[in-house]
Amino acid sequence: MIHVAVLGYGTVGSGVVEVIETNKDSISKKAGDEINVKYILDLREFPGDPYESKVVHDFDVILNDPEISIICETMGGNEPAFTFSMKALLKGKSVCTSNKELVANHGPELIKTARENNCNYLFEASVGGGIPIIRPLNSSLTAEKIDAITGILNGTTNYILTKMDEDNADFDDVLKEAQEKGYAERNPEADVEGYDACRKIAILSSLAKGKNVKYENIYTEGITKIETLDFAYARKLKMSIKLLAMCKDTEDGFYAMVAPFMIPKGHPLYSVSGVFNAVYVHGNMLGDSMYYGRGAGKLPTASAVVSDVIDCARHLGKNILCFWDAEDMKLTDIARTKKHFFVRVAEAEKAKASEAFAGAEEVDIQAKGEFAFVTKVMTEKEFDEKIASIGGCINRIRMEG
Ligand code: HSE
Repeated sequence: MIHVAVLGYGTVGSGVVEVIETNKDSISKKAGDEINVKYILDLREFPGDPYESKVVHDFDVILNDPEISIICETMGGNEPAFTFSMKALLKGKSVCTSNKELVANHGPELIKTARENNCNYLFEASVGGGIPIIRPLNSSLTAEKIDAITGILNGTTNYILTKMDEDNADFDDVLKEAQEKGYAERNPEADVEGYDACRKIAILSSLAKGKNVKYENIYTEGITKIETLDFAYARKLKMSIKLLAMCKDTEDGFYAMVAPFMIPKGHPLYSVSGVFNAVYVHGNMLGDSMYYGRGAGKLPTASAVVSDVIDCARHLGKNILCFWDAEDMKLTDIARTKKHFFVRVAEAEKAKASEAFAGAEEVDIQAKGEFAFVTKVMTEKEFDEKIASIGGCINRIRMEG
């Protein structure tokens, strides 16, 4: 029997116990031995819970129990999750986590510690919830040089943008409704400002490159400036607006960014709506592949954690190589990257805008008091200089594909 401990009996932690108990027979068969949840660590008591008797409040009980070989860290945040994970790995206990913040902050040292102690630090659930993306990057796609990843990695913002588009509704109203339905957090900053997607693309780019991409170095812009009218323009252009998290090899180097983009109807991410996530990966041999599904939620995320538990069970005493070194990956300034921009300026600036952005194409939806256009392909730096020279910019959205 393989004994497992779950750290944190919140949404994901209770989901992990539920997944293991619901699919116990098949999980045990696939793991090669029976998987048993021996402990659940939480500060709270859970009177009446079917697993009440497994709840402990002292991490040392788990750490010092030689029967525990796998730990699921579903606490979230940096501390005490980091200390607990490190201590476990140093004792040769594998750790499976859904904690993107911890993975983005300390991935390389936790992976190295696991390697040095013949165990594993696995984090399938940290990006894209239940969508398999870490294992494909670390296993199935290892023959590839990954040169681009483009993802819709945040369900909350994708839900908000989809609703704004479909219902012609304002950002504030949709956010309020999403909070009432429990789709958006009471404090939505991490989602709507793009910070959550930023940590996730930091993890994916680090795995793609095998070096550490610091999330602090990734240009990040959220969706709070997107207006209902922007969707009317997008529809006229046969496009949609999505919060994209991306990293790409270019002739100027490797860059990563998070920002709202207009994407055309033919783009594989165009139809990814509501709370769904998708990751579109380009490799130099395979070409394009896409991974799609539920990027959040109790059972999808827990299922990914348990898939890691099974992987750990199959590799007890053995480390599964993970290519993510501590060396920092140098990122190219996005100012050098090139694209089309969709721009709205005050009507009074039409002449100046047409001169500064010569060759731009007007987008007319008969909106009062403004002039909208799509620029030619240019660098971000060139765009910033031109737009600063004319003033009166109402909004600008980058364009992909
Ligand atoms: N807040 C995240 C989202 C949860 O909306 O996608 C999953 O990381």
